Amino acid sequence: MRRAAGPLLALLGTLACDVQVPATEDGATLFGAMCARCHRPDGHGSTELRTPDMTLPAWQAVHPPELVRATIVGGSRSKKMPGFGATTFTPRQLDALVGHVKAFGVTDPGARK
Ligand code: HEC
Repeated sequence: MRRAAGPLLALLGTLACDVQVPATEDGATLFGAMCARCHRPDGHGSTELRTPDMTLPAWQAVHPPELVRATIVGGSRSKKMPGFGATTFTPRQLDALVGHVKAFGVTDPGARK
């Protein structure tokens, strides 16, 4: 049954079972394992993958914590990024991920490298 879940979830458009979630509440570790392959470890994103530069003040300004959280669970508003679903992360892991994304705007402001 476990085997069938991969293609099924892919069909439903979720990122939930792509990678195993590390058992931690450390935002950087969680981001590195679950988000960095598309968003890059430093949050600068990539032109190729069409991911935004999360370090830009202009990006941070229009992505409040509630929106970052909703994106992780339900996907981006345009649906170009599928969501992870409601059960992939614990509420504390979600808090940690949101905190990490918001910290990009503080620790590394500036343009994509
Ligand atoms: C498979 C690639 C992929 C993974 C993995 C991924 N993202 Fe994304 N993400 C994207 C893409 C592509 C976009 C741009 C989507 C768009 O323009 O609608 C995006 C956009 C976003 C946005 C902005 C959404 C919006 O509506 O403006 C946030 C916030 C975000 N991602 C957070 C995360 C976090 C946090 C993780 C890890 C828990 C993550 N993403 C994992 C591909 C990914």
